[in-house]
Amino acid sequence: MSRINLEVLLVLGLLLVTAKQSMQMSLRNPTAEIESSNCKVEVLRVGLVLASDNNEKALLDSGLFTEDSSVDFVGRKFHVGNLNNTLIVYVKTGTQTVNVATAVQTLLNKFNISEIVFFGNAGSLDKTIIPGDVVLPKAVAFTGVWEWEAFRSENKGELVFGGFNYPVNGENLLGTAAHENITLYSPSDEPKEVFWLDTSLPGYKAATEELTKDLKLKECHSGRCLPGTSKIIYGSKASTSDFYVKNEAYGEFLHNEFNASTTDSTSAAVALTALSNEKPFVVIQGVSNVVGVQGSYPELASQNAFLVATEFINLLPTQRLACE
Ligand SMILES: *[C@@H]1O[C@H](CO)[C@@H](O)[C@H](O)[C@H]1NC(C)=O
Ligand SMILES: *[C@@H]1O[C@H](CO)[C@@H](O)[C@H](O)[C@H]1NC(C)=O
Ligand SMILES: *[C@@H]1O[C@H](CO)[C@@H](O)[C@H](O)[C@H]1NC(C)=O
Ligand SMILES: *[C@@H]1O[C@H](CO)[C@@H](O)[C@H](O)[C@H]1NC(C)=O
Repeated sequence: MSRINLEVLLVLGLLLVTAKQSMQMSLRNPTAEIESSNCKVEVLRVGLVLASDNNEKALLDSGLFTEDSSVDFVGRKFHVGNLNNTLIVYVKTGTQTVNVATAVQTLLNKFNISEIVFFGNAGSLDKTIIPGDVVLPKAVAFTGVWEWEAFRSENKGELVFGGFNYPVNGENLLGTAAHENITLYSPSDEPKEVFWLDTSLPGYKAATEELTKDLKLKECHSGRCLPGTSKIIYGSKASTSDFYVKNEAYGEFLHNEFNASTTDSTSAAVALTALSNEKPFVVIQGVSNVVGVQGSYPELASQNAFLVATEFINLLPTQRLACE
């Protein structure tokens, strides 16, 4: 183990011990503890965000979540409880970026959230990343925001439709499309134009790597098994758009143009909303399919992404004592 990893682990270990102690204290007799000190327990929960029924089923089937209560806002149910003894609130957002952003913003407005852990399914754009793999990208972008240029315009976008004519390349009335930046609004900064949204919590990478080294990912579900042994991938780039990409040629374009390894219709929306609220977050993607290749494993993708999300949440200190 490298020195750096060891240090990260030590720091995390301390945080974890503090968190567990304060949790035990508050479980034992919360009011007495608070009254006998100058400290008050600040109840912070991890916001666990998931998008689909398959994701939620993975959580419920695990038996690791205990629900204390639930409350509805903007048509979403927010489930308050604990995941393997960490206090969380989870919400199923639904897909499409506007739905995702609405649910995440509501979560942040209505609860005291320490950080956001998002897990969902994604398609792979890289043949070495196969169904069942779990990807923790370092950055994610909206790649479906285009300026669609006029036919034969002087302005040329990166996506040249004529380049995809079949059987031979040529001119195409659809012309070209240029990828656009997106405006990031945040409380402490001027609005700025960005393309890549960096996923935060960098210090946890090394620790997660250590702790998930021996994590056994699922390989079979209802008698159907994955094509290979699953692995966890860190530090790649991810692409999000409101179109579900099944087209191999477009998938190759995304891979070549942006070096994106995965595509989904959710994670950049979580990222942008979290960044706008200056809230730490992490994106965890379960690979359900390879774009352009037959075979989809949405249940196993969800189960494996959930397993990694749980390991990750196990690391996070959630309750803190705020002392005067
Ligand atoms: C749940 O927590 C316990 C101890 O805190 C740990 O040993 C176990 O691995 C956790 N389970 C999962 C599935 O992460
Ligand atoms: C969030 O925390 C503040 C103070 O730390 C508290 O007043 C408020 O009631 C909390 N909100 C919720 C929804 O728990
Ligand atoms: C988009 O934003 C990046 C910085 O994130 C900048 O380097 C680039 O020039 C911008 N592109 C456009 C087309 O505005
Ligand atoms: C492209 O992504 C791969 C995998 O994440 C990475 O190893 C490689 O360095 C990247 N290439 C470039 C040119 O950024």
